[in-house]
Order: sequence, then structure tokens, then C-alpha cells
Amino acid sequence: MSLKRKDLLSLAPLSVEEITLILDTADSFKEVTGREIKKVPALRGRTVVNLFFEPSTRTRTSFELAAKRLSADVINFSPSSSSVVKGETLLDTARNIEAMQADIIVLRHPSAGAAEALARGVKSSVINAGDGWHEHPTQALLDLYTIRQRGLSFEGLKVAIVGDVAHSRVARSNIYALSKLGAEVRLIGPPTMMPWGVERLGARVYRNLDEGLAGVQVIMMLRLQLERQGRALFPTIREYARLFGLTGERVKLADPGAIVMHPGPINRGVEIAPEVADSLSSVILDQVANGVAVRMGILYLLSGAN
Ligand code: CP
Repeated sequence: MSLKRKDLLSLAPLSVEEITLILDTADSFKEVTGREIKKVPALRGRTVVNLFFEPSTRTRTSFELAAKRLSADVINFSPSSSSVVKGETLLDTARNIEAMQADIIVLRHPSAGAAEALARGVKSSVINAGDGWHEHPTQALLDLYTIRQRGLSFEGLKVAIVGDVAHSRVARSNIYALSKLGAEVRLIGPPTMMPWGVERLGARVYRNLDEGLAGVQVIMMLRLQLERQGRALFPTIREYARLFGLTGERVKLADPGAIVMHPGPINRGVEIAPEVADSLSSVILDQVANGVAVRMGILYLLSGAN
């Protein structure tokens, strides 16, 4: 089976079969990343361009590593040292890059919908590496991969997503995918940080962290997305940490053996206590490690090399 899509923009339209195909393909590349020589020739002669209009540590680096491990040529385009500063539009920039035979463009952009707009204007495949508050599909896919790696099955899995859900593109992609896969999704946070109408997607909203954590097998913590909030949505950070911060005591409310996830970057002492971030239940660095294999799988499937 192949992924019959030009682009990966959102998890909303993906079928369970497509999600499973991506995770299974990532599994075969995970084996490659464990070898001494972590490279296969699958994308030799192809070009991947990372076009990041917002800062990134994990996503940009892992897309670069993923593409290099598939033997693709990789261009890391820096908008701040490009003609974007002279007013060139996103579409013109991408069309000029495409004219140099880019096969896949990986876009991170502060505007929701930017990846979809770009995908309509170029022939190259476009991968959404985070568009404003909208979606971050590859992060959610690596989250799913990490959950599956722990031997957990999605059907009936209780997952708590905690914090600034309204401004989190990671949360949105995870809600779409986890609901589709049959998980019970609980969204926990202050009302000012909850998106309207999220119950329509099958998620249940909790305002009390302790109540929402009861019996869950997966806890996904979110950073306060201050750069997108515009105005203060909570009286003080200290009060937020007291009510919604994950402590060791609170982890005990979840299922014994529950895993703690975070897409990063983490703010120690705000949404997550340092001892929880570094505990045995934390799979935060597993998420980062799995990001390379998952992105290898996505690049491979979109390239049509399979
Ligand atoms: N999870 C994530 O998107 O991290 P970066 O912003 O560092 O890429």
C-alpha cells in the first residue's frame, strides 16, 4: 500500500489505514537508525528543502537527519538571510526553490493554513511542520509511534492532553488522530485555553487536573504558547503551575505504568516538574528519537519511491 497523497498537511483527513501505514513504515526505518551505518539510498537524487519561518530545534533537525539518512540532498533555507526580507512572498519563494528541482518542501510557518496554501501553488510535495495554532501532523505521528512502541493499543486508550490546548497545533493533530484510532481523549486545562466545540471531536473537557488524570495511560503535557496567546490567559504563571503543573504526586493518580509525554520545548517547573520530566515514566526523549524514523517514513512515502 502507498500513501496516495502529494502532501501531508493535516491528520484530519487521514484514514486509520494511512496512519498505520506511516507508523509501520517508520518501524522499518527505526531498524535502519539503530544500525552502525544509519543510511539507505532510498531518496538518492531527490531534494528536500526545510523552509522554517519560525524557530525549531527538534522538527528541523530531525527532518534534516531523516532526509540525509535516506540519502536525499537537503537545503536548510533561512528566511532571515533570504529575499523574504525584501518582501518576496512565501509562494514566490517556494516557486523559485521548486524551479531548482526541490521534490519535497517542509514548511513551518506562523500562519494557520500556510502549508495548505503553499501546497495548492507548487507541484512539489509539501509537509506541514507546524502552521500557527492549526496542526503539527508529524509531531502527532511520532507521538502515536511512541505510544505504540510502548505496547499500548489505541482502542480504548485513555489519553490526557493537559494545558494550553487552544493554541497547540500538536494537541489538535493528536485529537484528530487519537479519536480516529478509538482512544478516549481527555482535555484538561483552564477554560481560557480550551478551543470551542472540541467535544464535537469526541474529546471530554476537564477543568480539574486531578480529576482528568484519574486512570489515564498516557499524559501529554503542553507548553503555554505565550507567543500565540496575545494576552494573559491566566492570572500568574505560578498559579497556573500550581493548578495545572504535572508533579510526581499527580502522576500517581494515573494508571500505574502511565507514560508522560511532551512535544517540547519543556518549561521545567511550569507545566512539568523537573523530576517528572526526568523520571522513568517520561518518554520525552524517546519521542525525539522516534521523530527521525517517523519523518524518514513520511519522506519516503510522499516521495513515491516505494
Ligand atoms: N515539537 C516541536 O515542534 O519542537 P520544535 O519547535 O523544537 O521543532
